[in-house]
Amino acid sequence: MTTYLVTGGCGFIGSNFILRLLREHRDARVINLDKLTYAGNPDNLREVEQDEGYRFVEGDACDPTLVGELVQQADVIAHFAAESHVDRSLMESGAFITTEVLGTYTLLEAARHNPKLKRFLHVSTDEVYGDVAEGQFSVETDPLRPRSPYAASKAGAEMQVIAYVETYGLPVVVARPGNNVGPRQHLEKFVPLCTTNAMDDRPLPLYGDGRQQRDWLFVEDNIEALDILLHEGEPGEVYNVGAKNHRYNIDVAEAILDLLGKPKSLIRFVEDRAGHDRRYGVDYGKISKLGWSPSHDFEAAIEKTVRWYEENRWWWEAVREGEFKEYYEKQYGQRLADARPYTSGGS
Ligand SMILES: NC(=O)c1ccc[n+]([C@@H]2O[C@H](COP(=O)([O-])OP(=O)(O)OC[C@H]3O[C@@H](n4cnc5c(N)ncnc54)[C@H](O)[C@@H]3O)[C@@H](O)[C@H]2O)c1
Repeated sequence: MTTYLVTGGCGFIGSNFILRLLREHRDARVINLDKLTYAGNPDNLREVEQDEGYRFVEGDACDPTLVGELVQQADVIAHFAAESHVDRSLMESGAFITTEVLGTYTLLEAARHNPKLKRFLHVSTDEVYGDVAEGQFSVETDPLRPRSPYAASKAGAEMQVIAYVETYGLPVVVARPGNNVGPRQHLEKFVPLCTTNAMDDRPLPLYGDGRQQRDWLFVEDNIEALDILLHEGEPGEVYNVGAKNHRYNIDVAEAILDLLGKPKSLIRFVEDRAGHDRRYGVDYGKISKLGWSPSHDFEAAIEKTVRWYEENRWWWEAVREGEFKEYYEKQYGQRLADARPYTSGGS
């Protein structure tokens, strides 16, 4: 039996990861430590709530007593807990520094006092590399040049991880995935926002000229990669996880509208995000050597994602009715009032 301590398991990627662990590893016992911030959604794990292999603990990754107790019970740690939305980090970055930096430190400190700990997977992001020019792909040895408070807090967490590997020999593996899409992602993120707005004939706000480019990684591919890294990654090493599914935001919005049979005129160009990185792109040759490659191209990833939101209106309507309403108004109210209409191929 292996006991996995997963942090942030009620969020988007963490919940998909827990479902995979319980499905794929018969000997898995999962403890999910989650603070249930606005992003933590117990609905994500309803289907395993009663499993005897699953235990939920509501609590903060920054709480040394609780974390110390849980880490002592774990053979393996998978650390997802974070404040994850760049736009919110531009409004107020304190919680990002606290959870990413102090939370990671708290887990590392507890981990170094657990001699039976086999592996610690630290989930970082490709955003730590900062803006990457078209045609370029970051490799793991590239310098970190984070440009948003979110990315800086993630880079700060990584720096501590590396220090604990060097100083205490902790068996930590770092993953740097690209932009995930898939079931259970909070509505604040670009793809769910566009999908659910389009379903209800509401406008789709696109920042700036809509020509920011992201590498769209299907969450099932990402969690498979994370599972491999957790079991076969080399301790002390960093691994990019990407798909080379680069698309401009405008192309993503258009693809969503096509899948839903909605008009492009729903698109609005709104004031850009401050310091908006134009592009991220990673080379994932290193993890490929462990036998992993993504199974979903962009079309398959976006179609599966859109269909999931179509079939799970109950899930996202509950999210839309909560705290999100206030956030949406703050982030997009004025922007949409000042928006420019859609023109084919960009603004
Ligand atoms: N979503 C992406 O596209 C993406 C891409 C690359 C990396 N990542 C990283 O993957 C991880 C998961 O991202 P996500 O999109 O699932 O995020 P999410 O916002 O959907 O979920 C975050 C979860 O962490 C919990 N949490 C927040 N603060 C906590 C704290 N102090 N203690 C305990 N739990 C806390 C929340 O309640 C929530 O359940 C993050 O570390 C993120 O930086 C995400």
